[in-house]
Amino acid sequence: MKPVIFNNTVLRDGHQSLAATRMTTDQMVAAAPELDRMGFGALETWGGATIDSCLRYLSENPFDRLRTLKKLAPKTPHMMLLRGQNIVQYASFPDDVVEAFVACAAKAGVDIFRIFDALNDLRNVTTAVRAVKAAGKHAQGAISYTTSPVHTLEAFVQLAKEFERLGCDSICIKDMAGLIQPSAAAELVRRIKASVKVPLALHSHNTAGLAGTSYFEAVEAGVDIIDVSIAPFANGTGQPDAFLMYSMLEKTPRCPKYDADRHVTLVEHFRNVYEQLAEFTSRNNERTDVDILRFQVPGGMLSNFRNQLKEQGMSDKWDQVLNEIPYVREKLGWIPLVTPTSQIVGTQAMLNVKFGRWKNIAQPTADVLLGKYGRTPGPIDPELRALAEERTKQKAIDCRAADILQPRMSKLREELKAKGLPATDENAVLYAMFPQQLEAFYKPKAATPPPAKAAPPQQAPTPASTGAGVATESPARRRYLINIDGRSHEAFVETV
Ligand code: CO
Repeated sequence: MKPVIFNNTVLRDGHQSLAATRMTTDQMVAAAPELDRMGFGALETWGGATIDSCLRYLSENPFDRLRTLKKLAPKTPHMMLLRGQNIVQYASFPDDVVEAFVACAAKAGVDIFRIFDALNDLRNVTTAVRAVKAAGKHAQGAISYTTSPVHTLEAFVQLAKEFERLGCDSICIKDMAGLIQPSAAAELVRRIKASVKVPLALHSHNTAGLAGTSYFEAVEAGVDIIDVSIAPFANGTGQPDAFLMYSMLEKTPRCPKYDADRHVTLVEHFRNVYEQLAEFTSRNNERTDVDILRFQVPGGMLSNFRNQLKEQGMSDKWDQVLNEIPYVREKLGWIPLVTPTSQIVGTQAMLNVKFGRWKNIAQPTADVLLGKYGRTPGPIDPELRALAEERTKQKAIDCRAADILQPRMSKLREELKAKGLPATDENAVLYAMFPQQLEAFYKPKAATPPPAKAAPPQQAPTPASTGAGVATESPARRRYLINIDGRSHEAFVETV
């Protein structure tokens, strides 16, 4: 029996889940060579919210971070989390932008691309998988795990098979909300292992306290890889700590070798960093939260949701809003709650409670109803779809959202030139996703305000939406900034 492989997430999901993605490259530098010596299967160092955070809060070039970490940790493969056609944003991008992004990331040091689509619509991952293979890198297909009447084990096994057929080199069960129960983990692992040849990873969060035990059961059932982190950027809403998992598995046949002394050195380092990031950490993220089991929503979403309701003067509506979430999910075809759909469902649930059901439909909700995020796992409520068509004066689409987008790379390079910014491919793909942030990055430093600390950003979203373009505020449209998953999310509300 082969030992299970530990992937380490401390430099990406660890601080994204527990410190609002604020760890700087400087805070990583001392740890990177040590992490490289630990023998992890992969170091997750990039993607997810880190690229946004580098530009928005840390005045860092995300590609430079990747190159730095790759140089300091050259032995272990580097992994990134890629949201398929959304790259690392919330809307679909044209194929040429996705391809250029993957090529740049591969060149700068990403070895393993973990690719997922929030709706598990595989049409939204095919371009990314193809681009990764073209770059000669490892494509890992990630299944967005959730629970709902339409998310059966059989459906997940089918997805795993389809990922393998697409050419993925491995599969990941991505349990972003920490919902997977030990028995489900064991059963799912057993069935996927029996159906595909490529290695299988399990990624979970200890939000509800289930992840360690679910990992243990998954290892018993034959999972090849589990994602672990390093305390204090572990446990709670993050991945289980590596040493915790090692202890749990010790004296079992699949326990890997693990250097406990070096782990202690790393914990000391990260403890200091955690202190330095105190203003971004929260006790709510550190403890296990059974609310997530009651409401089946991701932990990061829960903690930020509390603040959001407070800002909206709706603190007393906590239970009501959370109870509205499954209702909204059902009407929206049981979409999984993962970035960006967690924000969309959460925002809409709040609006439904505040104004009455569907009195106000936020633009991103309308986009889901119109098929712009892809095919939903269950059917969308037809009356609600008709209402969205009527309100937006748009027709729902059946095709892949990116099929109606024009290639953008040459235009992006032109725009960069016109602004006097270096028109490299790296800048073009960043500019496609984060135009204002990239411009601010290149402004003379003296003129740039210091990176925002605690306050959520007030910038408008990028104009890359596949929806009705950039919404503006007017007497009939009110703008709400909704902070979910540690990121400010803009919702325009039609007042009818
Ligand atoms: Co995660």
